[in-house]
Amino acid sequence: MAKGEAIVILTGAGISKESGLETFRDEGGLWSRTRIEDVATPEAYARDPKRVLEFYNMRRQSMVDGNIRPNAAHLALARLEREWPGEVLVVTQNIDNLHEQAGSKNLLHMHGEMLKARCATCNDVIPWEGSLGLENSCHACGAVGRMRPHVVWFGEMPFYMNDIYAALDRCHLFISIGTSGNVYPAAGFVQHVRMRGVGRTVELNLEPSEGATLFAETHYGPASEKVPAFVGQLLNAGRIS
Ligand code: APR
Repeated sequence: MAKGEAIVILTGAGISKESGLETFRDEGGLWSRTRIEDVATPEAYARDPKRVLEFYNMRRQSMVDGNIRPNAAHLALARLEREWPGEVLVVTQNIDNLHEQAGSKNLLHMHGEMLKARCATCNDVIPWEGSLGLENSCHACGAVGRMRPHVVWFGEMPFYMNDIYAALDRCHLFISIGTSGNVYPAAGFVQHVRMRGVGRTVELNLEPSEGATLFAETHYGPASEKVPAFVGQLLNAGRIS
């Protein structure tokens, strides 16, 4: 096997769809029923914090109560990390915890995590499985009504950007899975890798994304089939190209 070849994988809502979680922009998706401006911006939170907290409370509750489990695609990425001789980094836009449940360890949640809450006053982050309300106080600084979901809203800076661009700069393979390519900066990662002039770029998605033409290689179908198949081929080949 080729030692040291690095892989970066970007995942989006499509990888969790077959586990029972909704996507955002597919027909009937989350953003077809709820306006982003009402629930997923700092302005929405400033205007009506209760409504925003309630939106995330419902999503958190359906994930915890629904006993949502990883599917074959999440498991295949965890297997890749275990068996590949070089670095494998999963950068996810998803706020669910299905990559962790599947066993991925080298994982960055660039849009935050649904099962954590953050104090808007002191930035302390803690695990949070129940409902969030304005009555909650921060365990660290004691501020009341300042606990918010530890997620990145539109207009806020995603997390770990320096680490992510450093990994994109050294990767030999970039794979994008289950994302529509509508939201930057994630949608621009493929161009970032291509501008280096080296590195294989692959899209695995149900259908061509907005950025499909930017990938050198594309495979379309459900993630639970396409991801294990691609990972199997990669591990059999033992090298990227
Ligand atoms: N297998 C593979 N891909 C799938 C599947 C599946 N079973 N089902 C749907 N898809 C694809 C869709 O075709 C679509 O291209 O997943 C993509 C989901 O796109 P979006 O709903 O736009 O989700 P995502 O790209 O993750 O959104 C990015 O937008 O609202 C924000 O913060 C939110 O992180 C999210 C960001």
